[in-house]
Amino acid sequence: MNGVVIYESLTGNTAKAGHMIAEQLSAAGVPTEACPITAVDLQALSQADLVIVGSWTDGIFLFGQRPGRAARMTTKLPRIDGKKAIVYCTYALDCGGTLEKLERIVARAGGDVVGGYAIKRNDLAGGAEELVDRLLAAVDVDEAA
Ligand SMILES: Cc1cc2nc3c(=O)[nH]c(=O)nc-3n(C[C@H](O)[C@H](O)[C@H](O)COP(=O)(O)O)c2cc1C
Repeated sequence: MNGVVIYESLTGNTAKAGHMIAEQLSAAGVPTEACPITAVDLQALSQADLVIVGSWTDGIFLFGQRPGRAARMTTKLPRIDGKKAIVYCTYALDCGGTLEKLERIVARAGGDVVGGYAIKRNDLAGGAEELVDRLLAAVDVDEAA
């Protein structure tokens, strides 16, 4: 199984988490690339069975939360029909409905969303590690090896 992390990041946290997730998955035997939504590695994506899509939380901190620059994510996310997908968001205080909204964007691109995980920005490393642990427990990584 191969993976691709696609992230939308304004100040770098979601990018940092995305690269940590890619490194840890690669170390666990799931070769994974991480790229921003503005420069998706289409060749890696075409070979990937697993797509992890991340975004930051935009809102007024406790209300109206949504994926940051969701419109751009919607228009730029390539078709990922038939691929397993996991979403994550980074946030400061409360991510509200961000993950559910991101799930809908990814499902509309054809992804088979099997999970979501919110990562608090003051513990990106811990959040990335837990996401990878849960992902490896939930997904059969030998499936398409
Ligand atoms: C304009 C703006 C709005 C934000 N709104 C929220 C919010 O409603 N709730 C929250 O928990 N964090 C909010 N945040 C914090 C970011 O989601 C958080 O810092 C995130 O990790 C940023 O990711 P990035 O560095 O990849 O851009 C907001 C940040 C910005 C810049």
